[in-house]
Amino acid sequence: MKNYRSMLFVPATDSGKINKALASNADCVILDLEDSVALSEKKTAQVVVKNLLRDQGNRHIYVRVNSIDTPFLFGDLTTIIPSRPTGIMLPKTESADHIKWVDWLMGQLERESGLPAGQIGLIALIETGCGVIQAASIAGASGRLKCIAFGAIDYTLDIGTKLSKEGHELFYARAHIVAASRAGGCEQPIDTVYPNFRDAEGLKRESEFVRNLGYQGKMVIHPGQIEIVHQVFSPTPDEISYARKVVQAFETAEKQGIASVNLDGKMIDYPVMKRAKQLLKNVDNGGVIK
Ligand code: COA
Ligand code: MG
Repeated sequence: MKNYRSMLFVPATDSGKINKALASNADCVILDLEDSVALSEKKTAQVVVKNLLRDQGNRHIYVRVNSIDTPFLFGDLTTIIPSRPTGIMLPKTESADHIKWVDWLMGQLERESGLPAGQIGLIALIETGCGVIQAASIAGASGRLKCIAFGAIDYTLDIGTKLSKEGHELFYARAHIVAASRAGGCEQPIDTVYPNFRDAEGLKRESEFVRNLGYQGKMVIHPGQIEIVHQVFSPTPDEISYARKVVQAFETAEKQGIASVNLDGKMIDYPVMKRAKQLLKNVDNGGVIK
C-alpha cells in the first residue's frame, strides 16, 4: 500500500477548507466526522462526505467516523461506504473486537454496493490506555487494516495528564505501538497531530523523533505542516544513492560467498542490506524523494 507521510485532517462541515485540503499535496486527506463536527451537524456531515467522495478519482481520502460507543457510527458507515472512500479511520479503538465488528459491517456494505469485499481500507486510531495495551491484537484483527494511528490528545486525557511540548508522557505508547504493529502484521504506524501549528521547529523535531522510532508519517491539522512532515519522512537523494550502493556492494560480495563487507569504513551485512532494500521499496511505494 502507498505510504502516508502526511494525513491532513479537515472538518467535514467546512467546505472551504475541504477544497483546500483536496487541492493540497498531503498524501492523504482525512474528512472528519468525529470531534471537529458539532453533535447537531453529524447527520448533515454524513451527506456532505457521501456527495463529496463521488468525484474524487484517485485522491487518497480516509473518513474518520464516530467511535463505536456513539449512536453515529452505523449511520456513518452505511452512508459513506457506498461512495468508496480509500478507507475508514476508527477513533478510540480499544480491542480486536471493535475492528472485527467494523470490518464485518464494511464487508456487508461493500457487497450490497457491488464493491469487491475488503477493497476499502481501515486505520485503527488508538488513543486510550486500553487501546495501547491491546495494540498487537488490534493490529492483527483484520486483513483490511492498513495500520495503527496514534492520537495523543485523547490519550493524555485518558491517562490523566497533559500533553507536554516534549511529549515524554507519550514515549511508552508510541514505542509500544511500533512493536505491536509488527506483531500484528500491519504497516508502520502514523503519529498523532502536532496541535501548535505555528511552531514549525517543534513539528520538525517531533517528526524526526517519531520517524526514528519507526513511524511512517504524521497526521496534520494545517496545510502549513505538510511540507515539513514530507521533508522529514522522505529519504534524501544521498540516502537513496547510498542504499543503492549498499545493495550493489553486498550482492557482489554475496556472489563470492561473503556476507560481511567493508563499505567506506562501515560494516554491511544482511540486516544492513535488508534495511537499504526497505528504504528503496518505500521510495517506490510513495514515489517520494526529498
Ligand atoms: N485543511 C485545509 N485548509 C486549511 C486547514 C485544513 N485543515 N486549516 C487551515 N486551512 C486554511 C484556512 O482555511 C486558511 O485559508 P485562507 O488563507 O484561504 O483563508 C489557511 O489555511 C490559513 O489558515 P489559518 O488562518 O492559519 O488557520 P485557521 O484559523 O483558518 O484554522 C484550525 C485553524 C486549527 C481551525 C484549522 O487548521 C483546522 O480546522 N484544522 C483541522 C481541525 C480538525 O480536523 N481536527 C480534528 C483532528 S485533531
Ligand atoms: Mg481523538
